[in-house]
Amino acid sequence: MEAVRLYSSRGAGIRDCSLIQDGNLRGERILSKLSIVGLGPLRGEVCVGGAKNAALKMLVACLLTDDECIIHNVPRIKDVEVMLEVLRFLGCDADFCGAHSVRVRAEGDLGFKAPDVLVRKMRASIQVMGPLLARLGKVQVAYPGGCAIGERPIDIHLAGFAALGADIGEKEGYILAEAGKLVGCEFYLDFPSVGATENLIMAGVLAQGQTVLHNVAKEPEIVDLQDFLNKMGAKVMGAGTDRITIQGVERLSGTEHWVIPDRIEAGTFMLAGAITKGDVYVRHANVHHLEALQAKLLQSGVALSSTPDGIWVRAGRAMLQPLNLRTMPYPGFPTDLQPQMMAFLCTVAGTSMIIEGVYAHRMKHAAELRRMGASIWVEGRSAIIQGGNPLTGASVQASDLRAGAALILAGLAACGTTEVYGLEHIDRGYEHLESKFQELGACITRLP
Ligand code: UD1
Repeated sequence: MEAVRLYSSRGAGIRDCSLIQDGNLRGERILSKLSIVGLGPLRGEVCVGGAKNAALKMLVACLLTDDECIIHNVPRIKDVEVMLEVLRFLGCDADFCGAHSVRVRAEGDLGFKAPDVLVRKMRASIQVMGPLLARLGKVQVAYPGGCAIGERPIDIHLAGFAALGADIGEKEGYILAEAGKLVGCEFYLDFPSVGATENLIMAGVLAQGQTVLHNVAKEPEIVDLQDFLNKMGAKVMGAGTDRITIQGVERLSGTEHWVIPDRIEAGTFMLAGAITKGDVYVRHANVHHLEALQAKLLQSGVALSSTPDGIWVRAGRAMLQPLNLRTMPYPGFPTDLQPQMMAFLCTVAGTSMIIEGVYAHRMKHAAELRRMGASIWVEGRSAIIQGGNPLTGASVQASDLRAGAALILAGLAACGTTEVYGLEHIDRGYEHLESKFQELGACITRLP
């Protein structure tokens, strides 16, 4: 669905003309927005939900068995709803069965074609490839389109499937992968892609013999996926290191699992505490999953202390220092916290530098932060931030999920009222974001 942004001549706000697939105009409506009044330090406690990027992969892993799987601590966000729609389209029973619990049963005849509209809506839908190829020996998906953070090819996923014995064809924008029975192999990933690592693990669990994946991604969500699959009866070892070994098994069975806390949501709230010079306890923030962020916040002068169940952030007292950082695959500084970190550095006096080491084009939020008075110079993957100019409220547009989070943080630290548009991006990955901020004392309202 293509959204055309128009500015109302009467200044009523940004409008949206959404076109349905066949190109007919569906209607024009005023987009909702978040209105934020910067009121100073946030204080109190906020509770982090389950990890979006772990839950999504477990949902597709349920395709590997015809037994029932129950997954708890699943966030109620748009991306999860879309993934449940994908599973239902393929023939599964899949729905929430509790506040944050999902039941999936992938029984009977499953479809092998992933729905185009949903794949285009959410790149993570391509994760159905590994499980469907393993279970049905066949899968067809539309090429996931480019997105706001740049070209994101799937060449590593496809090369891995080919190494496992699949024939990969391409026709009219579709990719078709077919294999009688996948056969274990040794495969080296050109880049430690999170999605490719997960797709290949899920393809390998039912393959014949042993698969060894080298130079894999080490994200905590991959360790959680390994735990989930092993509870289903798979034999996966090594997640969290750069080599994963999978011993193929005949069949997997149902299981029940609790998703790990979302480290990116936790990091967003930690940076909200820091940017407002607040005093915030982020419950369920996992200290081991957030080492790079903690190191950078400490280096800047933010006081942190951890408890067995969370992290305190206290930024009120110190004179904060600028930072240089580069985003990298885990355990490096996460690209999904780069926009929020940039917002924070706009408020720290002195020159900071950020290099985006994962995506070629993930700096769109810089232009919106500039509308709020920030001084940021972007060249390719690098941004130089001359921090310390006071931020002032403005109307800004979220270009993607984390850019939206960054603009909210900037709004919390700005003088006056900030209006953040593009909430459809923010709702993809944050549950009850505004009420969580309100509990910390923020003045943030969803309008109209
Ligand atoms: C996942 C996360 C996303 C996060 C990213 C990096 C989910 C649903 N999303 O995305 O939030 O920002 O990890 O931490 O888990 N690449 C290739 N070829 C491929 C695959 C990837 O060139 O076949 C490149 C991409 O273009 C990108 C980089 O590798 O520049 C990282 O991508 P990847 O790790 O695959 O990210 P995702 O799994 O898509």
